Amino acid sequence: MRIPEETIEAIRTAVDIVEVVGEYVSLRRRGANWFGLCPFHEEKTPSFSVNQHLGIFKCFGCGRGGDVFAFIQQIEHVSFVEAVRMLAERAGIPLPDGEEEADDPRPALYHALRFAARFYFEQLTGPETGQVARAYLKQRGIHPEAVRRFGLGYAPNAWDALLKAATEAGIRPEVLEQAGLVLPRKERGGYYDRFRHRLMFPIFSHTGRVVGFGGRLLEPDPEQPKYINTPETPVYHKGRILYGLYQARQALRTQEEAILVEGYTDVIALHQAGIEHVVATSGTALTPDQARLLARYVRRVVLLFDADAAGQQAALRSIELFLERGLNVYVVSLPPGEDPDSFVRAKGARAFQEYLRQRRRDFVTFHYELARRQGRLDTPEGEAEVARTIVSAIARLPDPLLREPYVRCASELLRIQQVRLLEI
Ligand code: GTP
Ligand code: MN
Repeated sequence: MRIPEETIEAIRTAVDIVEVVGEYVSLRRRGANWFGLCPFHEEKTPSFSVNQHLGIFKCFGCGRGGDVFAFIQQIEHVSFVEAVRMLAERAGIPLPDGEEEADDPRPALYHALRFAARFYFEQLTGPETGQVARAYLKQRGIHPEAVRRFGLGYAPNAWDALLKAATEAGIRPEVLEQAGLVLPRKERGGYYDRFRHRLMFPIFSHTGRVVGFGGRLLEPDPEQPKYINTPETPVYHKGRILYGLYQARQALRTQEEAILVEGYTDVIALHQAGIEHVVATSGTALTPDQARLLARYVRRVVLLFDADAAGQQAALRSIELFLERGLNVYVVSLPPGEDPDSFVRAKGARAFQEYLRQRRRDFVTFHYELARRQGRLDTPEGEAEVARTIVSAIARLPDPLLREPYVRCASELLRIQQVRLLEI
């Protein structure tokens, strides 16, 4: 597609590069430029700068630079045309309709996924068929506002409900398959719906595009997994997505903190309780990409984990990924058997906030208390080992000024002199 040069210039003028970049990088003004940590390479001190007046960015560390279109291309991994389209949408400047670029499957997949999200939403809110899902939501205390905000839906109890509706709307089955929405039939040919008789949770990219779905059973069924998810597709990479990030983005900025939970329903329940700076990993271990993504929004993360051993182990791994990216990490262990959803529904938002305040542990204290519970502090050699682990975690902090108070904290807990710890 040819986009007229004047249109490109109009978009460039209409968008503020500091605002655009600011959605990915936390920027501070210094003189004529804005500085932040480069989103394109790992660094500990800011060498990434944006010049509002010239409309350009430049990293003195990795050398990347360019205008606002180049920034979007590189950070979103999209073509020039797609970057123009995204910024045009933001600026409210209409683009001439054109053929999609033939070799990029993604626009068609986004279209199919958006269609599916609307379809499932309509099935939930409209017809008789959604009654069972509405009853389920009611019983779980999920309100209509949350249904709208998170775009929840219902996949009907049929083999071809989405397939039919989508093909009637002109979406090819091959595209639905590539989007992870339908599966090919082995013998008879044709396709069938992947999600059937499930409550649907659309998964949004941080820019608000539907990229996949999670689907939950409505009735317990030992034969089937409780949740099924979209497989990896050209637009859905589960290791790069945080559930709820799109809905949380405003709150993340105002709270300057993120709460990390494990489940879709945890995110939704906390939102409903007015705690909106929440995102979820959707049950998988945190990845470096997810840590990096969150680091674009906040400097502090509170990990909310199950009290069980698996939960604690997951917390330990996540802590390291966040520390390395310069985030401050706190951990809260929930009472045994509770998850954030059940806790906030049983006790209410205030009690939940109060619990977070009281039970929040910095990562050093968390390490220490976990080691004590596990009996790893019962022998001198155990103590030495724990001290080593804690010191090596502190050493991961990119900010040398922050290492100091943590060393002090470790020294007090372990009753080992600071100088000794610094020798490790
Ligand atoms: P509810 O039971 O609806 O409250 O869900 P939950 O979010 O509390 O589920 P749980 O704590 O069991 O799991 C946390 C997250 O792991 C879920 O939100 C899902 O993303 C994921 N998950 C849970 N069970 C399965 C499963 O059987 N298969 C897959 N692929 N993911 C699952
Ligand atoms: Mn739950």
